[in-house]
Amino acid sequence: MAGICSGFGHLWTHISCTTPHVTFDIDPFYVMEVVAAAQEREQSGEAVFHLEVGQPSTGAPQGALDVAHEMLDSDTLGYTTSRGIPSFAPAIAGHIASQYDVEVDPARIAITQGASGGFVLSLLAAFEPGARVAVSTPGYPCYRNMLTALHMEPVAIDVDASTRYQPTVELLEAAGPLDGVIVASPSNPTGTVLHPDELRAMVEWCDANDVRFISDEIYHGLTYGDIETATATQFSDNAIVINSFSKYFSMTGWRVGWAVLPEELTGIFDRLAQNLVICPPALGQHMAVAALDCRDELEGHLARYAANRQILLDGLPTAGLTDLAPSDGAFYVWARTDHLAADSKLLAAQWLDQLGVAATPGVDFHPTDGHRFMRFSFCGTPETMKGAVDALHKWFLRSVSG
Ligand SMILES: Cc1ncc(COP(=O)(O)O)c(C=O)c1O
Repeated sequence: MAGICSGFGHLWTHISCTTPHVTFDIDPFYVMEVVAAAQEREQSGEAVFHLEVGQPSTGAPQGALDVAHEMLDSDTLGYTTSRGIPSFAPAIAGHIASQYDVEVDPARIAITQGASGGFVLSLLAAFEPGARVAVSTPGYPCYRNMLTALHMEPVAIDVDASTRYQPTVELLEAAGPLDGVIVASPSNPTGTVLHPDELRAMVEWCDANDVRFISDEIYHGLTYGDIETATATQFSDNAIVINSFSKYFSMTGWRVGWAVLPEELTGIFDRLAQNLVICPPALGQHMAVAALDCRDELEGHLARYAANRQILLDGLPTAGLTDLAPSDGAFYVWARTDHLAADSKLLAAQWLDQLGVAATPGVDFHPTDGHRFMRFSFCGTPETMKGAVDALHKWFLRSVSG
């Protein structure tokens, strides 16, 4: 196995930096290393089935692109205020009203550089250094890495199939004193969704215990079947809600997102934004407002993801991958792989090397148990999904017969 993984084994690193003045220790985002290894393979002329990245294979919707062309020809596209172009917050308030039937004062809606920018500003606005903030494990790795970089303490809440890989009030209660909680529904990497009642219970528990609830709603709009989603804004004005144009709206590189803030945090959030980022890219801001009206095209992407998801749910079991988290939303399938290989990093390297299948080993999402899992992203094309499951199926048959 060690020989097999030589393809990108050397890329797995852990960065630790110590200077006389600063010590920080932060994990890399391993998926980027799979991406690099997959690109290396493609550059050498070999095909790759890309199931590693959580990035739509489509670009911005046409209505947003049309606006971009117009703006490039007619506007200087300089700085905007840190709150963005005047139409942004009212447009997002309209979006929230239409999706969840809840009214939000546009004064509570801040524009951000994607969800990532929204997280950094929200964490700085809401917490002091040393704050204890609960994050689900497995979960999106940047939460814990951002908290660490900001000298806050990520408190791991271990979640598993018994709670559909989501935290519960009981798990929060068992975590010791907390200042905050970050919850993602639909979740990355598992795709699981909190029922509105469960979300409400956690938001209300946080309010009662003076814990700041942060709801990452970046995968809202991407659910399959009869899955109900709610926004934390429906249950409390104290919750911070983070969202983005990167996923449903298919605009990763334009770097626009938003945060719904408790009124008491708007002032500090604005001052942090003015000083740290000034504003998100002006062109992306105009495109984002236009993208809100492109639902027909975006619902077409959703239909493709639904078909891709079915290809994986039908096909992965034929490759021996039978223990799959319920993929309610987002565009991921989280699969247990430890019966096939002890270390999913080595398995991922083997699949890339032998089959051209790029998937993300679970170590990004679960520092201690991730070697037992793999994440498959299904936001590519149906042909990619079919090619990948076919290759994995044949590989599995060869490995059981050999
Ligand atoms: C759960 C989750 N939150 C936040 C982000 C960051 O997204 P953005 O591109 O909006 O910064 C991602 C990106 O994959 C994600 O999966």
